[in-house]
Amino acid sequence: MNKTILCIGAGYVGGPTMAVIADNCPDYKVIVVDINAERIAAWQSDTLPIYEPGLQEVVERARGKNLFFSTDVVAGIKEADIIFVSVNTPTKTFGAGAGKAANLQYWEKTARDIIEHAESDKIVIEKSTLPVRTAEAMHRILQSNTKGLNFDIISNPEFMAEGTAVDDLEKPGRVLIGAMEDESGQKALETVANIYRNWVPEEKIKKTNVWSSELTKLVSNAMLAQRISSVNSISALCEKTDANILEVSSAMGMDPRIGSKFLNASVGFGGSCFKKDILNLVYLCEFHGLPEVAAYWEQVVLMNDYQEERFVRNISNHMFNTVAGKKIAIFGFAFKADTGDTRESPAIHVSKLLLEERAVLAIHDPQALKYAKLDLADCEGDISYEVDPYKAAEGAHAIAILTEWKEFRDLDFEKLYASMEKPAFIFDGRNLLDHQKVFEIGFNVYPLGQKALSHL
Ligand SMILES: NC(=O)c1ccc[n+]([C@@H]2O[C@H](COP(=O)([O-])OP(=O)(O)OC[C@H]3O[C@@H](n4cnc5c(N)ncnc54)[C@H](O)[C@@H]3O)[C@@H](O)[C@H]2O)c1
Repeated sequence: MNKTILCIGAGYVGGPTMAVIADNCPDYKVIVVDINAERIAAWQSDTLPIYEPGLQEVVERARGKNLFFSTDVVAGIKEADIIFVSVNTPTKTFGAGAGKAANLQYWEKTARDIIEHAESDKIVIEKSTLPVRTAEAMHRILQSNTKGLNFDIISNPEFMAEGTAVDDLEKPGRVLIGAMEDESGQKALETVANIYRNWVPEEKIKKTNVWSSELTKLVSNAMLAQRISSVNSISALCEKTDANILEVSSAMGMDPRIGSKFLNASVGFGGSCFKKDILNLVYLCEFHGLPEVAAYWEQVVLMNDYQEERFVRNISNHMFNTVAGKKIAIFGFAFKADTGDTRESPAIHVSKLLLEERAVLAIHDPQALKYAKLDLADCEGDISYEVDPYKAAEGAHAIAILTEWKEFRDLDFEKLYASMEKPAFIFDGRNLLDHQKVFEIGFNVYPLGQKALSHL
């Protein structure tokens, strides 16, 4: 049977996820709606609102055929049988749980929109990341409708990573679908699984109860971030002991129980999800009377703050204890390579700390300059934004690498060095460069968790 899918929220998750579903499920009509008209217009144009490798092609294949973008939320709700909700769930900034708990106002608003405008039974799917047991509250709100309609609520969290979203969606490690254990819930689960069965092998479709599914998403992000914070904490110890974090990580990762992925030391993790989801987990643990568990996970976030601050302290210490009036070229502002997204990027915190020290910043990023400008709009100080990395480095005392864009490796470091003040420094916050090579050009090089290469 042909079905209509609606997705409420056309952001980093809703847009790519629905494009891949439409592309793989020609029998379904997929409508993506958002209250942000500018975003919808961009999804309808040749310049998509987000940068993801391969996304343009997927959207172009499906758009106008069985993939449609619209601001008409009401019409979408009336038409669709299956509704994914992929609105933002940021950290609450007010009231109880401020600074930790998830702000569910956007999610609840969509639930209320669905009740108001639905004219038939619906399956409502949590695509956003939500606190465990949200489905219960949402189900209660939806079932309070006075039209006699039945709503099933399914948890189907998204595990794709920005920068590799299309690949992750095409070949997911798993598709997690959590449902209520009654007959109606199990039937809804199969309906949702049938969408994915169009291109995802059966063994990758993991079915759980709804609470396990909600919690798995939070914990998966917490575990990933925990690995980064663990390695970053050891990078600090490496710098004190002449152990080398690259050697430690690769030797440690050879143990199959540990695994080699996510063991790169860096200036810190960013992105819209890790911090918010861990804090949400911390809040849930506190709420449920588990202070020891809460403190354990909170340390992951505190370690990340520490690593960003340590990076700035290192810059200042090595540049003769002052960066005031010195130009520092920031290479990379996105929170990771292959995305223009800067949400919670370590570059924001690092730049702000450097500005407090009165450094002069020249920021270069291949995709994220637009957002960098917005992120630092309220900051006082001398900041310029450069499309050309060579211009950013001209007259600078130091280059700080904050995003692992591959193209930074291919820059002409002789040319960069020639145009900079001397002594010239590189602080490699991603261990991206060939350190020996740039050292031989003349740079004083400070990698993370490795011995500095200094001419001084
Ligand atoms: N970004 C990621 O990599 C990622 C990965 C997995 C899960 N998630 C989760 O997915 C959810 C969405 O994240 P995102 O990065 O796509 O956020 P986003 O901010 O990019 O997109 C959310 C969209 O929802 C729209 N919206 C809000 N309220 C609405 C309403 N009432 N009606 C219609 N549209 C509305 C907003 O205008 C916005 O465009 C979050 O819960 C996030 O934690 C994100």
